[in-house]
Amino acid sequence: MKNITTYKMTLVFATNNQNKINEIKTFIPKSIRILSLNDIGCFEEIKETGKTISENALIKSKHVKINYGYNCFSDDTGLEIDCLNGEPGVFSSRYAGKPTNSKKNIDLVLKKMRTEINRSGQFRTCISLILDNNHKLFEGIVKGQILNLPIGRGGFGYDSIFKPNVSDKTFAELSVKEKNQISHRGIALKKLLNYLIKLNL
Ligand code: IMP
Repeated sequence: MKNITTYKMTLVFATNNQNKINEIKTFIPKSIRILSLNDIGCFEEIKETGKTISENALIKSKHVKINYGYNCFSDDTGLEIDCLNGEPGVFSSRYAGKPTNSKKNIDLVLKKMRTEINRSGQFRTCISLILDNNHKLFEGIVKGQILNLPIGRGGFGYDSIFKPNVSDKTFAELSVKEKNQISHRGIALKKLLNYLIKLNL
């Protein structure tokens, strides 16, 4: 017999980044149906014109709610490096210019930090949730060190040069599950989930 799932809620996750979708699906209860931007036919580029990570998260969730009517959450993440005055920050995806390229971004960070002794930095994720007429923001931060060269084959973005302080491995050496347990996005998602659970889902 076909297994028919009845969902208590549908939420659009305003991304087409399959890595992020895989990460969050390990978190979200099966009673919540997650749709991506592709799933709802949203193929246009949502311009991230905000000056901060939280502004960009809000822009994406608002775009979906206003144009497609779905309850939605979106995340925006930045790597904030102390000796670079918080860069790449809001420019994390396009730090080395467009088209975006993770390897070029990493190369630029490592070049700028070549002689730096202070290697500390943090990932910050902001999740913007729009549920009917309510807007909520959830933040997750993980502090760590920027390595001198990439290590590890997993993950994405800057994962291979970021070693969280709570681990002796880079994010790129951890499994998705291990990364979720300590990551910026994992922390912000747990806050989102706690909020949704209190709504009795
Ligand atoms: P986004 O705007 O949230 O997609 O994130 C901006 C950029 O930050 C991405 O293009 C990635 O390069 C980087 N990034 C986001 N999340 C992560 C992560 O979990 N690990 C490593 N890099 C990330």
